[in-house]
Amino acid sequence: MFDIPDSDILPLAMEHGFWTWSAQAKVSPIPVKRAKGVYFWDVNDKRYLDFNSMTMCCNIGHGDERVINAIAEQARELPYAAPGMATKPRAMLGKLLSEITPGLQRFLFTLGGADANENAIKLARAYTGRHKILTRYRSYHGASAGAMAATGDPRRVAWEPMLMPGVVHFLDPYRYRSTFHRANPDISEADFSLDYLNHLEEIIRYEGPDSVAAILVESVTGTNGIIIPPEGYLQGVRALCDRYGILLIADEVMSGFGRTGKWFAVDNWAVKPDLMTMAKGLTSAYAPLGAVGMKEEIAHFFDERVFESGLTYTAHPISLAAAIANIRVMQEDRIVEWSAAMGPVLHRMLTDLGEQHPSVGEVRNIGLFGIIELVKDRQTKEPMAPWNGSSPEMAAFRKYCLDHNLYLYTHWHTVLIIPPLIISEEQLAEGFAVLNKALEITDKVAS
Ligand SMILES: Cc1ncc(COP(=O)(O)O)c(C=O)c1O
Repeated sequence: MFDIPDSDILPLAMEHGFWTWSAQAKVSPIPVKRAKGVYFWDVNDKRYLDFNSMTMCCNIGHGDERVINAIAEQARELPYAAPGMATKPRAMLGKLLSEITPGLQRFLFTLGGADANENAIKLARAYTGRHKILTRYRSYHGASAGAMAATGDPRRVAWEPMLMPGVVHFLDPYRYRSTFHRANPDISEADFSLDYLNHLEEIIRYEGPDSVAAILVESVTGTNGIIIPPEGYLQGVRALCDRYGILLIADEVMSGFGRTGKWFAVDNWAVKPDLMTMAKGLTSAYAPLGAVGMKEEIAHFFDERVFESGLTYTAHPISLAAAIANIRVMQEDRIVEWSAAMGPVLHRMLTDLGEQHPSVGEVRNIGLFGIIELVKDRQTKEPMAPWNGSSPEMAAFRKYCLDHNLYLYTHWHTVLIIPPLIISEEQLAEGFAVLNKALEITDKVAS
């Protein structure tokens, strides 16, 4: 068997690898060896508590034998079939998804989140005969050219202008740093939602409603700040879509599959999108897979028209088998319910932390989807690192956590708390004990 000693993993990977989202000379990867539950281990047997579900995706936790066995069985029976063929996992997964998604009947399987969003955009453009797509500035929708264009954050700006045309961005209902409400921070939630809905409607009118195919939103914003829509907001976006004949695409790539304490984040507000994109928690990353769920009438539109799209690995049987087993694990172990129950526990821990540390500006969470905003000054809300930047304090904070066996994701001035959904209260507390110490670093520059 082709094998190498553990000690060769890092040097060989560095010699021949090319790393994404990185300057090649600056990468410092963890040479990871194995993973189980909420932990993973590097080649030196150092154990990390995984507070980011790797890439916000291992929702059921690591090393679940039920999913591993399903993958192995599928690999033995039929590891691959042409995208135009019907397979058992394809039949079963479509049915399963129609039972757990909000009113969606038909499913197009993709390789991940970015191409799920690209396909959703294609479907919406073809179905409506319109071309514009509205998305928010604080959004991430993927790294392929179309998904990158849809992305609002600086990851898009890095590749402009060579991206898909036709995307217009609007502002997020981000209460902590709301542009419209600096003089009126105590505005009611209903009025706050209304202001942002009016802002969106104004943009729709300026752009010309007849040219807008879809509004694409992360139901709860992920890396750009765990921005939880205020009451009435998502319902209001749905109503605007209905008023102007625009399709609503919910990007549930990060927020889906139990992350917010419901199967999908839209379920928190009983909003039914026309199209919904999924990936990450769909297989808990045991195999790569994305999906676009759509209402029956959108699928019917293509009854006599060709849907001009597809990839060699569309509906890959191994990934579909992983998804089926993953969803069954979530159902058997009542993982969505567990995430919902742990939401208030995480909230209490976040709030306690905020009360003890002057560098904590705000904490937010819904289910096991949480964030800490670090600031230099609670009054001015000056962030601990600038927009799209880093700071020595944030770097030292992250290093402290990693040195003390806590793996997490920091994004500019924020700290994301996105653990596997099977995490226990004790394990959460274990991570928070490290955070508590790490915050002493950022507290030193906070007033
Ligand atoms: C909300 C959201 N949409 C889309 C994507 C892109 O998914 P992928 O990396 O699988 O292409 C991501 C990835 O982080 C995401 O968080």
